[in-house]
Amino acid sequence: MHIPLVDLKANYHSIKKEINQAIQDVLESSSFIMGPYVKKFEEDFAKFCQVKHGIGCANGTAALHLALLAAGIKKDEEVLTVPNTFIATTECISYVGGKIKFVDVSPQTALLDIDLLEKAITKKTKALIAVYLYGQMPDMKRIREIAVDHDLFVIEDAAQAHAAEWNGHQPGFYGDIACFSFFPAKNLGCYGDGGAVITNYDELAEKVRLLVNHGRTTKYEHRIEGYNYRLDALQAAILDVKLSHLSNWTEQRQEHARFYDKNLPAGVGKIIEAKNAKHVYYMYVIRVQQRDALIAYLKQQGIECGIHYPIPLHLQPAYTTYGFRTGQFPVSEQLASEIVSIPMYPELTQKQQQYVIDHIKKFIQR
Ligand SMILES: Cc1ncc(COP(=O)(O)O)c(C=O)c1O
Repeated sequence: MHIPLVDLKANYHSIKKEINQAIQDVLESSSFIMGPYVKKFEEDFAKFCQVKHGIGCANGTAALHLALLAAGIKKDEEVLTVPNTFIATTECISYVGGKIKFVDVSPQTALLDIDLLEKAITKKTKALIAVYLYGQMPDMKRIREIAVDHDLFVIEDAAQAHAAEWNGHQPGFYGDIACFSFFPAKNLGCYGDGGAVITNYDELAEKVRLLVNHGRTTKYEHRIEGYNYRLDALQAAILDVKLSHLSNWTEQRQEHARFYDKNLPAGVGKIIEAKNAKHVYYMYVIRVQQRDALIAYLKQQGIECGIHYPIPLHLQPAYTTYGFRTGQFPVSEQLASEIVSIPMYPELTQKQQQYVIDHIKKFIQR
């Protein structure tokens, strides 16, 4: 048996007719840049997220960059975030000249440890990027309260958390701006690169709309210098089809997670789903001592795994100039040495899951 970490082919085949038709429609319309397909997806996605404004963009990294620009972060101003995330979260801080400031995470959820947050805030701290790693939101109500007390701009990195919730509210509710990636493997993924920014604030939406398309007010009038960060019409049309399946796919991911929760052997550590969270399981992550040996063993059995992420950002070569030390963010470091992402996608069958579970059991009992 071969079980991939994510099965994009199975996903395409399950909606092939609709997707092919959507692509055909865009080709026939020749409306490739902005236009009706982008507008429709932006409206549908904003409605799905229950926010006022949705703005498509080129990818999740561009979404974060746009959010930092809209926040008005200036040189040497501090932006707080976690070390156990994809580098795009912090790259965007550097793009605007800001200073990265890390706060460690909770060992239970692998999400921002809110008890450490206030201690990390200084006079120079202007914003916070909350990362919804693996598809789960931290206690955003508490984070929002702390942010309001300290006048921090809140950006939600929801690249892995389409349709996730905290206390019944999706990304976009607690933050000033939320950012999404539609990288193919994401819970809502296109067939190339794509991203979106959502917000309830009119002035932020207006700023992002200008920045995403060369600062244009009309075809050749530019109020400001912006970027070519537009979402492709082809990707927008694909995303609109896939958006109509997202709730169903999310339920399937959650069912698979329940099955893993129930049947994985004792001795396998888990990332906990918090009581008030709706976890959408972009990744199902376990923790084991002999992580690399487990991955190698599962590979031999035809089971693909991943590590999200093996090197915490404070220890990345890209950030040596900051002078971060090993041991500075111990929970992130410990997680990085133990975590394994095991197969998770809507089309995963129970037979496949059982095969994964049986081989993890065999490895643990060796
Ligand atoms: C947490 C997080 N933030 C940002 C990004 C960047 O998204 P993209 O790859 O679409 O630029 C990703 C994508 O992998 C991500 O996982």
